[in-house]
Amino acid sequence: MIYSAVMGYGVVGSGVVEVLTDHRESIAKRAKEEIGIKYILDIRDFPGSPFQDKFTKSFDDILNDDEVRVVAEVMGGVNPAYEFTKKCLERGKSVVTSNKELVATKGAELLEIARANNVNYLFEASVGGGIPIIRPMSQCLAANEVIEVAGILNGTTNFILTKMIRENMSFEDALRLAQQLGYAERNPAADVEGLDAGRKICILASLAYGKHVYPQYVHTQGVTKITLEDVAYAASWGGVIKLIGQVKKLEDDTLDITVEPMFIEKSSQLASVDDVFNGIMVRGDATGDVVFYGKGAGKLPTASAVVADIIDCVKHLKARKYLYWADGGEELVKPYEETSYPVFIRAEADDRQAVFGMASELFRNPRVIVRTNAAENELAFVTDEMTVKEQQNAIARLEENGVKVMSKIRISDL
Ligand code: HSE
Repeated sequence: MIYSAVMGYGVVGSGVVEVLTDHRESIAKRAKEEIGIKYILDIRDFPGSPFQDKFTKSFDDILNDDEVRVVAEVMGGVNPAYEFTKKCLERGKSVVTSNKELVATKGAELLEIARANNVNYLFEASVGGGIPIIRPMSQCLAANEVIEVAGILNGTTNFILTKMIRENMSFEDALRLAQQLGYAERNPAADVEGLDAGRKICILASLAYGKHVYPQYVHTQGVTKITLEDVAYAASWGGVIKLIGQVKKLEDDTLDITVEPMFIEKSSQLASVDDVFNGIMVRGDATGDVVFYGKGAGKLPTASAVVADIIDCVKHLKARKYLYWADGGEELVKPYEETSYPVFIRAEADDRQAVFGMASELFRNPRVIVRTNAAENELAFVTDEMTVKEQQNAIARLEENGVKVMSKIRISDL
């Protein structure tokens, strides 16, 4: 019997305990060892739970018990998860996690500590919930140079956008529903402001390019400013709006990496990824496009990935899985203002013709888009590729001339 411990008994933690318990026999066959749960760490009480004998409020119980070889950190947040993870790794315990915030902010350091202590730090569940993506990228696609990774990486916002597009549901009602279904973060601002997707694209970028890409260097924009009018214009244009995390390596070896809402053409594989589903496209130089699709959030999909990592650790108690990246800095990331893409603009325009005349001077090749039931004083157009700096200057000039710009949304090349 190999003992594990689970730190955090929230949505994911309770799922991990459930999967380990319900699938005990099949897991034992796959791991070639029975895996027991010795402790569940949580500061809360769970009266009536069948796991009473396992609950502890003391992290030291886990740390000081040499029988515990694998620890699942499913607490979320950086503190105290960082300190607990570090101590477990230093004590020779492997750690698996779904905690993307911790991996995105401390991944390089924790991977180095794991390496120095000859244990594993695995985080399949940190990106894409139940979708296998970390292992495929680090192992199956290892022969490729990764040209680009792009994906719908946040289930909550994808669920919200889908409800807005299909059911005209308000943003608030859709968010409430996502929270009830256990998709959202403890603080849903992390979902709707794009931070969660930002952490995930940073993890994928670090994995793809071998150096830690920190979220604070990545332009991150959420979905809170997306309106039903924008959704309608995207439909007229021939697509949908999705929150996309994207990274590509540029010729000067910097990374064009962002998280922002984008217009996606209907024909794109990512356009039909709806509800809580995530879709991740990895473009390899040898494979071409490989797309991963599945439930990106929720108790059991995420728990499934955490438990798979526990099994992997048990199978590799005396060997390390090669999962590693070096530390990185701000110089890895192309400044957002210097990146370039076509854009959708929606502006207030009492005199549409005059405003379009101005836009034609300021933007590259603007083409008007129309929608049914548009307000009389509204003008919407899409442009050719312009740098973000050029877009900002053009918008500033419009605003100087009394034209209020209500939306600016990137048009993707996916
Ligand atoms: N809040 C996250 C999401 C959970 O909605 O995708 C999974 O990481």
